[in-house]
Amino acid sequence: MSRTPDKQDLVEHFAEEYRLAQSPIIREVERAVLGCDYGATSWTTRAEAERVARLLGLRAGKRLLEVGAGSGWPGLFLAHTTGCDVTLVDVPLAAIRIAVERAISEQLDGACRGAVADAAALPFSHNAFDAISHSDVLCCLDTKRSVLRACRQVVRSGARMVFTVISIAPGLSSSDYQRAAECGPPCVEAAVEYPTLLRQAGWDLIDHVDVTPEFAHTVRRLLSEWKARAAGLREVHGATEFTELVIRRRAALQAIEEGLLKRGLFVTDAVATGEPENVDTNRKGV
Ligand SMILES: C[S@@+](CC[C@H](N)C(=O)[O-])C[C@H]1O[C@@H](n2cnc3c(N)ncnc32)[C@H](O)[C@@H]1O
Repeated sequence: MSRTPDKQDLVEHFAEEYRLAQSPIIREVERAVLGCDYGATSWTTRAEAERVARLLGLRAGKRLLEVGAGSGWPGLFLAHTTGCDVTLVDVPLAAIRIAVERAISEQLDGACRGAVADAAALPFSHNAFDAISHSDVLCCLDTKRSVLRACRQVVRSGARMVFTVISIAPGLSSSDYQRAAECGPPCVEAAVEYPTLLRQAGWDLIDHVDVTPEFAHTVRRLLSEWKARAAGLREVHGATEFTELVIRRRAALQAIEEGLLKRGLFVTDAVATGEPENVDTNRKGV
């Protein structure tokens, strides 16, 4: 049932996506759909990024960590619009390189650092950050609890983390569950619910907003922009690959519309005292 990809395959897949996303036609689509052109691979729109900035209370002097930052969306945008310092972490070097080059050309007010690192083993000291964000990253990796713990270890007490994640709706029949797992992102399955994972990793859940309607709207907009620019996109992706992409996105949209896939926005604060619960971290999807 699971289609958890090999980690190296995933890195190569994303590296190729970030390379292609720099082409003028894909940037055009991104501007039309998300309102940005950083080479996004998440479903975070500009409006959602602005919401994240407010929820995190970002401003000059705040130290933001963007996990799974890709080529800079939305971390660089958040730094650009709020003046905060930003550190971008992801696994494909190609993506971080694109992000850092853009940061240099935009001459951000705050400091910007890029690091190639696994989100489950963040190479930073305790108290290094005041805020963390990640967009649809936990559904692209199977070390969810380890990543949440690693995030907790590098922030000060009371720091806020805001993130979005795509998940499989609870209570599905086994055939619907299987469809959701096939249509969702590579590691959409989670053996433990996110509120539980957060508590175990040392995070207090402050709010959980269902942003599935916005998600469905964004996928519809993407499909419509793709249709309008199909000829140019076939040249960039290759005809067969583009057809497959369209088929996959249509199937995902159908799964969202049928209530099989959800997208949530979580607002969490780092617990001030006490150690996170000691739990087994070797289970699949955890
Ligand atoms: C859906 S993309 C989001 C990227 C970007 N933030 C955006 O909004 O476009 C998920 C990202 O998580 C990254 N990722 C996957 N596994 C990771 C890991 N173990 N450590 C760090 N990043 C990881 C991928 O390389 C990818 O860039």
